[in-house]
Amino acid sequence: MTRSVIAGTGGYLPVRALTNDELAEAYGLDTSDAWISERTGIRRRHMAAPGETTADMAAAAAREALAQAGADAAEVDAIILATATPDSAFPSTATRVQEKLGIRQGFSFDISAACTGFIYALGVADSMIRTGHCRSALVIGAEAFTRILDWTDRGTCVLFGDGAGAVLLRAEGGEGDRGILSTHLHSDGRHGDILQVEGGLVRMAGREVFRHAVAKLASAVDEALAANGLAQADVQWLVPHQANRRIIDAMGRKLGLPAERVVVTVDRHANTSAASIPLALAEATRDGRVARGDLVLMEAIGGGLTWGAALARF
Ligand code: UT7
Repeated sequence: MTRSVIAGTGGYLPVRALTNDELAEAYGLDTSDAWISERTGIRRRHMAAPGETTADMAAAAAREALAQAGADAAEVDAIILATATPDSAFPSTATRVQEKLGIRQGFSFDISAACTGFIYALGVADSMIRTGHCRSALVIGAEAFTRILDWTDRGTCVLFGDGAGAVLLRAEGGEGDRGILSTHLHSDGRHGDILQVEGGLVRMAGREVFRHAVAKLASAVDEALAANGLAQADVQWLVPHQANRRIIDAMGRKLGLPAERVVVTVDRHANTSAASIPLALAEATRDGRVARGDLVLMEAIGGGLTWGAALARF
């Protein structure tokens, strides 16, 4: 049976980082470090430099994923890139990355599923590998989210940051149990207006989204475990979408995981939308926390509403 194995991970954060106080000062916001950190866990975020594109960040993350996998451009035959902040409607950000990496074969396209984008991209890539459309795929989440924020709306502009994360998936046969075990994708367009881009800027009914988040993530996680005949106790790492520390902690408690088994970056990255999970994966593999053989559970919710979960054995 063909499986999609995560052969490498990579992440990129723009150089410029702003603390909550620096952000409030820079944009003249009526907010405080105390409010932001208590309600969200966020302490700082990175911001793309002028002229630094989503594709630039994505390519940097992809290069690290390729290097970690010991792969070169000639091996990649698909690029699937999740973003809510593409550099243009077309060409897709994925094809721009293809060009930047010198990849001359295969296909590339973008996926739009807001903060759930990486889980969606992983699901699509895994299906395409299993059905023989490609033998390897770069799966990327990349966002220049600070470009679509309303800097007069303290309820949203303090929450997001920029960055990119990537994984290289490789087809592997045989009896091994490494790879993506399953992905579970959901959406419900009835709730489109509680988290949307309107007039080019992000609008969010935060409390409403919060309410949906806890219930929908819990159900996606249960679905993923049940589909694989696994129990909560089998999960070694939770790598959740990083929107709010309170949501992350609630999911960790639900799974009965000790805090040190939950990968948290929201304090330093804020919410990087589709980039948050692959950025967290990159960090946790780079520092040796997530190791070969570990069972990793990923989950996310975002505009759409879209939500989902994925289970992978590293
Ligand atoms: O990634 C996609 C998924 N997104 C999420 O999962 C986000 C889910 N939602 C959340 O994380 C939380 O709802 C927020 C962090 C967005 C907001 O936290 P909250 O505890 O739900 O606060 P709230 O929106 O209900 O606002 C409470 C108060 C309000 O004041 P009043 O009306 O009670 O006087 C807001 O005006 O906090 C005020 N407020 C702020 N005060 C200082 C809102 N933003 C700020 C701010 N600084 N930045």
